Amino acid sequence: MPIKYYLLLLLLSTAVTADRQPFSYPSCKPIPARDVDLVQFAMNLEFLEAEFFLHGAFGKGLDIFAPYLARGGPSPFGGRKARLDHVVQSVIEELGYEEIGHLKAIYEWVGGIPRPFMNISAETFGEVFDMALGRKLMPPFDPYSSSIHFLLASYLLPYVGLTGYVGAIPLLDRFTTKDLVGRLLGVESGQDAIVRTLLYQHSGKKLEPYGITVANLTNKLSWARNHLGKCGHKDEGVVVRKKLGAEGRTRTNVLSANNYSLAYSRTPQEITRIVYGTGNEHVPGGFYPRGANGRIARSFIYKPR
Ligand SMILES: *[C@@H]1O[C@H](CO)[C@@H](O)[C@H](O)[C@H]1NC(C)=O
Ligand SMILES: *[C@@H]1O[C@H](CO)[C@@H](O)[C@H](O)[C@H]1NC(C)=O
Ligand SMILES: *[C@@H]1O[C@H](CO)[C@@H](O)[C@H](O)[C@H]1NC(C)=O
Repeated sequence: MPIKYYLLLLLLSTAVTADRQPFSYPSCKPIPARDVDLVQFAMNLEFLEAEFFLHGAFGKGLDIFAPYLARGGPSPFGGRKARLDHVVQSVIEELGYEEIGHLKAIYEWVGGIPRPFMNISAETFGEVFDMALGRKLMPPFDPYSSSIHFLLASYLLPYVGLTGYVGAIPLLDRFTTKDLVGRLLGVESGQDAIVRTLLYQHSGKKLEPYGITVANLTNKLSWARNHLGKCGHKDEGVVVRKKLGAEGRTRTNVLSANNYSLAYSRTPQEITRIVYGTGNEHVPGGFYPRGANGRIARSFIYKPR
């Protein structure tokens, strides 16, 4: 066989293999995508936050507050009213309403996607905490059982949205989407800061009956996210080694940021690896048992042919 054809064949066969097993190594590179797809990808996280905060504060979610935003997507499973003190109750109510606003904004600016199926049961959060601590907590962690529990669970949500927005902005094309995402990012990072500050006030307190401090828990949750994301150190707890604090001079770390005190950035691949709890953007699980929606997240899901 002439070498030319042999090479062509080789090329074709590797192309086919690559197509069958396209996802054998983790990617940390940004993927080029249309503005609308990048913003709609973020909607998955906004849905998760909306349902978790609204259920925690009111015992009901978007199906009651703004059903049209779900665009026919299934109701979430397992959310309930949390036992919250006055301050946390008011804050979570506010965050829940803010999420409705964010979803409306995206819906009106670029169009919405159907709400993905989400599992926000105590058990799902319990599994995240077990994974982060490397042991099965007994009794299982229940985010709905107190203000501290709910804040610790909330620690998991806006931060992921924040890093995703930071990752999306450099890829955006149009002025109007940059404007929208900048404004979403501003409030998302505010939400993260509020949750972290409220947790920081309890950083030395032990979460019983587990005997582990709130500060330590935030570090473990952040390590778990770094581990699942597979793209390095992008996540820090509320009390850290001085080396990781602002200017290397403080252990207090109410904001998670790099050594220039700039926000960390994550790609949609990293984000799905984290929120699926599988470390694999092609294998749904965790909060999204059937995967996230929109073009970007659906393109990751491996469908055998
Ligand atoms: C929700 O997640 C929990 C914990 O993994 C699981 O036990 C339960 O079956 C899930 N429910 C649904 C409806 O997916
Ligand atoms: C976490 O716990 C360890 C002991 O298990 C302790 O040495 C460390 O200082 C704690 N870190 C934080 C941030 O609380
Ligand atoms: C931050 O870290 C990077 C890489 O670790 C290093 O090149 C850079 O000089 C550091 N910058 C500051 C301000 O410490």
